[in-house]
Amino acid sequence: MKAINAQENVLPVGELIVSNEQATPQTAVNKLAERFFSTTDLDAIAVVEGKEPIGLVTRTKLLFTLFRRFGFELYGKYPIIAIADTTALIVPENERLDVVIDKALERQPQDIYDEIIVTTPSGAYKGLLSVKQLVIQQSNSLATNILQKEMASARAKELEKINQVKSQFLANVTHELRSPVNAIIGLAELLRMSAEKGSIEQIKERLSFMISSATNLRAIITNILDLSKLEAGKMEVSFQEINATALISEIAETTRILVGKKPVMVKVEAPPLAIMISTDPIKLRQIIMNLAGNAAKFTEQGEITLSLSIIGSSRLEIAVADTGIGIKEQDIDKLFIAFGQVEDAKTKQHEGTGLGLTISKNLAELINGSISIRSAYGQGTTFVVSLPLQNNNARQGEL
Ligand SMILES: Nc1ncnc2c1ncn2[C@@H]1O[C@H](COP(=O)(O)OP(=O)(O)OP(=O)(O)O)[C@@H](O)[C@H]1O
Ligand SMILES: [Mg+2]
Repeated sequence: MKAINAQENVLPVGELIVSNEQATPQTAVNKLAERFFSTTDLDAIAVVEGKEPIGLVTRTKLLFTLFRRFGFELYGKYPIIAIADTTALIVPENERLDVVIDKALERQPQDIYDEIIVTTPSGAYKGLLSVKQLVIQQSNSLATNILQKEMASARAKELEKINQVKSQFLANVTHELRSPVNAIIGLAELLRMSAEKGSIEQIKERLSFMISSATNLRAIITNILDLSKLEAGKMEVSFQEINATALISEIAETTRILVGKKPVMVKVEAPPLAIMISTDPIKLRQIIMNLAGNAAKFTEQGEITLSLSIIGSSRLEIAVADTGIGIKEQDIDKLFIAFGQVEDAKTKQHEGTGLGLTISKNLAELINGSISIRSAYGQGTTFVVSLPLQNNNARQGEL
């Protein structure tokens, strides 16, 4: 059976022809009856004169006529045209399935199941098609229609979700961008006032606030640019041998600054010998810094542990574990979607645009690694970055 365009039901009926049995109008009734007897799956025969169909004989109707009292004697030797149905439904082969079904259903109840004669566009006999076949085809097309509708509605839902994520992103981003800009403007105003009053201490303090707001703003903009670069496949990597232990210790220092006054201890757990890895240090730092930044942001007390372990002989795992708010099982899927955040934009308590993890995941893949997550809601979260110890620049082209 051919695939059909269910939306429009445009399958031409010519595709559904099941037989092209035919007989001349002069064929004797008993001769035709013999053909029906000897071919049990023959349901109908078209009566064709020259090339044109002029009638139809169905098994049921022929046998019904013959088996009536005196049927054989009365009609047996007559030419078939005498009892053939000359009002059979004839349609051209390029007629559409739905049009033919409509026509078939308009027929008299006793004729509804009769075969339909199909002709070429010029009217020559082409073959027969059964109503059974039509009905099967129609229900297939209905099923495909339903399937298509369901797929369309799933797609619509998906689009709606993307739209929601986008608007949530806009809400977040505008908020996130506006706060530091407001701070910078406000601080600049204050700075001018301080400058007029000549208080150097105040000027210094306000300048450092301004710098941190502007730095924050730059981080958000960099994230947005990074993500578009990653999505466009324009992010380049450059591998080199680095000391992973030293890198993680350095990130731990920065994490301590981020934790600030919160009672959170930042620890590093690593084998005594420094671990050397060939990777892109800028990308790796960015990944671990994003994870550690999240840990600092979402942990109010307890500890953040950055640990390194060699797995087998060829991989390094860097885990960032915290004792923070944790993530519910059902929210885990949202994390690695761009702009996906667990908190609602309107009620959220933590800053961020929801890009960090998406960027990290993409960056990890770029350096041939992966990120996995374990979390217990209310107890803490662990992100594990798994990386190959070796990478060489030559393989980049294959990625
Ligand atoms: N360590 C963690 N503990 C609890 N929730 C986390 C943790 N890390 C990430 N999340 C959840 O995952 C969401 C997405 O994290 P992601 O780093 O992508 O975005 P963000 O930190 O909100 O914003 P950005 O990183 O762009 O500044 C967070 O908003 C938070 O809900
Ligand atoms: Mg983040």
